[in-house]
Amino acid sequence: MERDGLSEHLIRTPQDLIRIKRDRGAWSRADIADLVKGITSAAIDDAQLGALAMAAYLNGLNSREVASLTLEVASSGRVLKWDKSGLQGPVVDKHSTGGVGDTVSLILAPILAAVGCHVPMISGRGLGITGGTLDKLESIPGYNCYPDLQHFVETVQKVGMAIAGAGRLAPADRRLYAVRDATATVDSVGLITASILSKKLAEGLDALVLDVKWGSGAVNRDRPAGRNLSESLREVADLAGLPVSIVLSEMDQPLSPAVGNALEVRLAIDYLCGRARPERLHALVLKLGEAVLEAAGESDRFSQVEAALEDGSAAEVFGRSVAAMGGPSDLISKPDQHLEEAPLSAPLCADHSGRIETMDAAAIGRLVCELGGGRIHAADRIDHAVGVSELASVGDPVESGQPIARIHVRQERELHPALDRLREAISVAEE
Ligand code: URA
Repeated sequence: MERDGLSEHLIRTPQDLIRIKRDRGAWSRADIADLVKGITSAAIDDAQLGALAMAAYLNGLNSREVASLTLEVASSGRVLKWDKSGLQGPVVDKHSTGGVGDTVSLILAPILAAVGCHVPMISGRGLGITGGTLDKLESIPGYNCYPDLQHFVETVQKVGMAIAGAGRLAPADRRLYAVRDATATVDSVGLITASILSKKLAEGLDALVLDVKWGSGAVNRDRPAGRNLSESLREVADLAGLPVSIVLSEMDQPLSPAVGNALEVRLAIDYLCGRARPERLHALVLKLGEAVLEAAGESDRFSQVEAALEDGSAAEVFGRSVAAMGGPSDLISKPDQHLEEAPLSAPLCADHSGRIETMDAAAIGRLVCELGGGRIHAADRIDHAVGVSELASVGDPVESGQPIARIHVRQERELHPALDRLREAISVAEE
């Protein structure tokens, strides 16, 4: 039921907007502009916003509505405009729809900066069982996820990368997102598309790569759901004129051997310094890097990626960016001195020989979350030290008694139940 153009310029009450969507109508661009103004000015209260989100979740948004919502949310705050004369390469970013052990942002941003790109990465917090880059970065003492916008911009210009929360960029998304989280309306293709792309459009990018995850540890439970979200993201990015590459990646098992905030930062540092290059993580980092450089029309820079890893320049960029954001200046050379370790850790050993058959990303993500590594309630404090490390991968051969993972917990009473839960999440098939 599309409404005619005559009503385009009427200013709706929140109740009008709810009624339109409740009755399966479509919002006009003017309605959506009112909606977003109502979100930022608080003229729409939380109960009304919850009803709006639920109506949109249940009755869907057409592609014109999703595009309008994306553009209105993108312009609800500051939109970055880069002075290209002061930059040595394109302004690019990557965004993932969220996974377990997905440490890619902490690795790919410095690699891209080391090959001459500029990465103004706006990231989020953990969501349910999936980890959040801001929570990971806050395991670094002093790291300020909400710097002054000018300082964020200058860090991107001078160092090549900075990772922070949205702050004054797309502020309407923060409020809408919090209400969606509280009203079980996160997993709507239209709302996810608008939420992700609005923040990326506000970054003023030349190109973006989207890592759309599917599997037990992702918002998209299977590949068709991932494809569906990819199509929506592509359509709106095209309409907004943002060059985008989309990579669909599996999230049935954790992406990397570490799940947990400080453990993932530690792994990212080990990766950048060449002490650990887990195969699946490395393959995805390269694939996403290549895709974003291609979208930016700068494929030539991909040949410099290996050198940036081997000569330590990517690690150095990460260290400088952390220091610029308030973290210690020697994090890269002395990670043990700065990243907290959980008081207790123990290996999980295979109880028979065979091959790792499955590794349930959702169960492992839930376990880490319940140990304190994620939030059960929005106001929960994160325990940055807990988690799982040294995780084997599906397909790995194992001997009876061989360690296949290590659990890190805060309290003695958690250790054995956590090991049991981890054992249940990993199955070893006898050969
Ligand atoms: N990530 C976002 O930024 N927004 C969503 O809605 C889902 C994932």
